[in-house]
Amino acid sequence: MDRKEFLKNASAATALAFFGLSLESCSSDQEDTTPGTGNPPASSAVTFNITENPFNALQSEGGWLLHPSENILLVNVGGQLSAFGSRCTHTGCTRDWTFPNNVFQCNCHGSQFDTNGQVVNGPASSPLTKLSVSVNGDIVTVG
Ligand code: FES
Repeated sequence: MDRKEFLKNASAATALAFFGLSLESCSSDQEDTTPGTGNPPASSAVTFNITENPFNALQSEGGWLLHPSENILLVNVGGQLSAFGSRCTHTGCTRDWTFPNNVFQCNCHGSQFDTNGQVVNGPASSPLTKLSVSVNGDIVTVG
């Protein structure tokens, strides 16, 4: 660091200190380190038609999806639908999920959950929040 750069940084730090701020508090890429709660979606109940795309993927055993607009993971296990809040219980990622080898995998840090929402591999240590599912003809209601 040359003299000019040093003075520039020192001036910025002095100005921030004057206002009671630190350079550290300006970081914008901090990760949420609060463990996720596995909270269900904000809306109280979500309804969809299982014959319509993309929900028709759930008609086959082993079919799964992340709801396109709600934080809900869905899977067909043995002809029965199960649903979970998609907020990962590690640090709260909600939308980066895959389903390799019949496990839900959060790709933020690699936690895996079985089709009952139980942790298979960490770093998460708590299960996903299970949501109620009811089916009436082609209409599925979650939550
Ligand atoms: S948020 Fe870290 S594994 Fe899901």
